[in-house]
Amino acid sequence: MSLFQDKKIILGVCGGVAAYKSAELLRLLIKAGAQVQVVMTPSAEQFVASMTFQALSSNPVRSDLFDKAAEAGMGHIELARWADLILIAPATANTIAKISQGVADNLLTTICLASAAPLIIAPTMNQQMWRSEVNQENIKRFKGRTAISLIGPARGEQACGDNGPGRMEETESIMQFCEQQLQQLKEQQSLSDLLKGKKLLITAGPTIEYIDPVRYISNRSSGKMGYAIARAASEAGAEVTLVSGPVVLDAPESVNCYKVRSAVQMHEKVFEQLDNMDIFIATAAVADYRPVEAKSQKIKKSQDTMTIELVKNPDILLDVSNHNEKLFTIGFAAETTELEKYALDKLNRKKLDMIAANRVGSDNTGRSMGFDSDTNELVLFCKNSEAGIEQKVLPETTKQQLARELIKEIVLQYENRNKKKDWK
Ligand code: PMT
Repeated sequence: MSLFQDKKIILGVCGGVAAYKSAELLRLLIKAGAQVQVVMTPSAEQFVASMTFQALSSNPVRSDLFDKAAEAGMGHIELARWADLILIAPATANTIAKISQGVADNLLTTICLASAAPLIIAPTMNQQMWRSEVNQENIKRFKGRTAISLIGPARGEQACGDNGPGRMEETESIMQFCEQQLQQLKEQQSLSDLLKGKKLLITAGPTIEYIDPVRYISNRSSGKMGYAIARAASEAGAEVTLVSGPVVLDAPESVNCYKVRSAVQMHEKVFEQLDNMDIFIATAAVADYRPVEAKSQKIKKSQDTMTIELVKNPDILLDVSNHNEKLFTIGFAAETTELEKYALDKLNRKKLDMIAANRVGSDNTGRSMGFDSDTNELVLFCKNSEAGIEQKVLPETTKQQLARELIKEIVLQYENRNKKKDWK
């Protein structure tokens, strides 16, 4: 069955030349099984007549915030609650600016503010308008917001004769994008409330260990895996605290995120946040060693060889599981060889409930595995009193999807453990 079947979609149409393409988009949505309510901004009517949308959707088109008949029943709120998804195509710079700043001065922008449904924006404007600093600032405000995503704009020739970014994406691409968002929504809903009332602490990203003010030891962790787990845990209703090494990612708004740099700082922050946590997930690639001394001045080039003396960093995961045996602890094992052997060693040595092992390095095509890739595969090893060690493979998929699968496994194992008293 199509993911669009019976989905309630608001198609927002703004005043731009590409508004004529919205009619085709509407036709495709209806064909795919969606129920569509078209909402036009006041200037959209200058480009396409509402009758076109009414005929295609078999629904009256809404555009007036102060429509007396509809507003008697709080029409804008009803519509905001009715929608499973809001798609604005084309979205002009003006409407983007309003949504980005929370302005609600017409029916469409008011619905956007009043709705919890995911919002997809297909920007369409002149290339200079798109590039303008103020528009880019408005766009940046959407970053890290799980409920808002952008498709496009595409590059190319524009109605005004310019060439560059600002064309509305092709209708087929917008449909594909909507389908992906509906799939995500379905997956999110399958997690809903699984971790309600639970507190999770997650580490993510690399640590950096300074040699001198301009040089450090680190690794290639991007934080993508840890941030995806934080997002999935939050989707599952948990209260999530993320302690992150330096990465370029934005944490989801629903997550309390603390940024640290070194392993010692990460250790300190984790212990500061540990009280009352139910589950600890160590995804961070913590540097095992740090220089004995970080020089205060830049080291000058002199001899042909040089030695940097290193000292072991605290093992955050080991210290956490020793500190609180009741806490459900999950470690990660990043291995280039003998995945199972090393993962099991870490599971036992660090007294964990579960370890998620992933291959790291490059595959035979040179593609990066584990570190800084968008996809991953995990082999889970879980302590289970009846079966001893249970093993499960979560096959390769996007890190976000993998994180959701992992959360489901954690919930299963966590509930299992809590049924037993004499655990560990
Ligand atoms: O960030 P990405 O680019 O998305 O990449 C994801 C990842 C590959 C970094 C992630 O999936 C992963 O494998 N993380 C663990 C990396 C690692 O350091 O593994 P390890 O085998 O060295 O450590 C074992 C466990 O002990 C890990 O849970 C680690 O967080 C923890 N540890 C290790 C050393 C230390 N001093 N303190 C720790 O807490």
